[in-house]
This record gives sequence, C-alpha cells and structure tokens, in this order.
Amino acid sequence: MENNLDELAEKLQREILDEARRNYSETVIDHWMKPRSRGILSDNDGYGKITGSCGDTMEICFKIKDGKIIDAGFNTDGCGTTIACGSMVTELILSKSLTEARGITQETVLKAVGGLPEANRHCALLAANTLYEAIKNFEQKKEE
Ligand code: FES
Repeated sequence: MENNLDELAEKLQREILDEARRNYSETVIDHWMKPRSRGILSDNDGYGKITGSCGDTMEICFKIKDGKIIDAGFNTDGCGTTIACGSMVTELILSKSLTEARGITQETVLKAVGGLPEANRHCALLAANTLYEAIKNFEQKKEE
C-alpha cells in the first residue's frame, strides 16, 4: 500500500515536471525547484514587500557593505514562476552596487530566467518592483 502511494506520488511529480518543461525554461524550473536565498535576513539593510495584481505577495531583502550587496533573501506565497523570479533577483543583485541593482527591470528578470509565457510575465514585474521597494527602504533608512 505504502509502495503504491510512493509510486503514485513519484508518477505525479514526473507528470507535473514534464508539463512544466513544456511551458518553462530549464532555468525557471531549476530556480522553482531549488530556490536560492529563500528567507528574510533578520539583520537586512533594505526590505521590500509588495502584493501584485494577482494577489501574490513577494518580499525581498538585502545586506549591503562597502557599497555592494553582499547577501539577499526573498519569500513569496506565489506560484512556481514567482518563486523562480524572486530567486533570480536575489542572485542577480549579489555583488552589485545599488545603482546597478536599480537597473534590474522586469525585462532583465525575464531574460535571466530564459523567458516566461505571457500569462506569467507579471511574476517578473512583481520581483523587480519588490526589489525597488527594498532599495527605497534602504535609502529611506539612510536618510533618517
Ligand atoms: S502568479 Fe502571481 S506573481 Fe506570478
């Protein structure tokens, strides 16, 4: 009985992955299945949280030292492509200056993940907008 359930679970997982491979790039699937830097750093220097038009929420944070982003984290309650985009942003901003990080747009994220179907392009926008929010938060804190 247990074996049958395990086999069924494996079969289902394979089918879900096969279906995902038809629609998404290997990079999307990789970041979706193995998200980088998931979690919010408690001692972050910049933090942003946005709920997109679809109702999904993303959080992005980073730590900065000597003008460069040295660590980053994200969290989302969104779907696989949202996870992939958040994960990609945390990878893209590592070792970047704030000016360089500010230059990361929806298009940058889309390109980095190998593109997304039309219906999922807004996931990249949510990730880019959340990054801007985190940068804004850092700048506001600096002014205080
Ligand atoms: S489906 Fe909501 S951000 Fe992707």
